[in-house]
Amino acid sequence: MSEPLTLTAFLAGLQAALQTGEIVPFAPPAPGLARAPSNQPAMAALNQMVLDLTEQMVAALAEAIEARDTFTGGHCKRLAVACLAAGQRLGLGPERQHRLRLAAYLHDVGKISVPDAILKKPGPLTPEEYAEMQRHPSSGAALITRMPLLSDIAPIVAAHHERFDGRGYPLGMGGDAIPLEACVLSVADCYDALTQDRPYRKALGLDQALSIIQGGRGSQFHPLAVDAFLEVVGDLISPPALGRREPAASVSPPSSAA
Ligand SMILES: [Fe+2]
Repeated sequence: MSEPLTLTAFLAGLQAALQTGEIVPFAPPAPGLARAPSNQPAMAALNQMVLDLTEQMVAALAEAIEARDTFTGGHCKRLAVACLAAGQRLGLGPERQHRLRLAAYLHDVGKISVPDAILKKPGPLTPEEYAEMQRHPSSGAALITRMPLLSDIAPIVAAHHERFDGRGYPLGMGGDAIPLEACVLSVADCYDALTQDRPYRKALGLDQALSIIQGGRGSQFHPLAVDAFLEVVGDLISPPALGRREPAASVSPPSSAA
């Protein structure tokens, strides 16, 4: 992870890049005219600054959203770490890795429109309440689509509760119709939910949680996403960035993270 980006540093980088003549927002060079000398290092640095700034803003937004739910603190950050590791194991390119990390932070942004009475309800949801909760992937994607810098992660957010066997929501997509990034997010989201306390149950132990993830391979979860996650999860829990080591009381696990 690079150093935190300040607005001052961003503006300094932008000014340096503009001075190279490489950025000409409204007047592309006419055909046949020589371009100004390229300054690849400055452009790469500027690009990285934009990516870092975007991620910092997204992380701050995610933390603000998470603050509504005292039971999911740190969830998005753990997911971002896990998704990046699994995405790299799958061989996703840098841009897809970046989108996956942003989607991990914002996957539940649609819950901002779910009433507290449902979001924080300690007991089981009624069918009507569950239907309301199931709208959060679509409402989150709709919100993200309105932000041009983030709009390309909307399909990932929209599909993070789809299942490989087509029995997920909101669309019942299946197989490779689901973006692979959403499949990775789904596995990491479920694992993190299983290994954290919830209002209605205690956290599961690691072995029990991993057994459930493995059991969902090819039904709830994309096999490639499960395989990649299981290959990296050992690195994620030592030191404990994701999940917990101590055994927990036996519970009935959810079929999917909320
Ligand atoms: Fe969700």
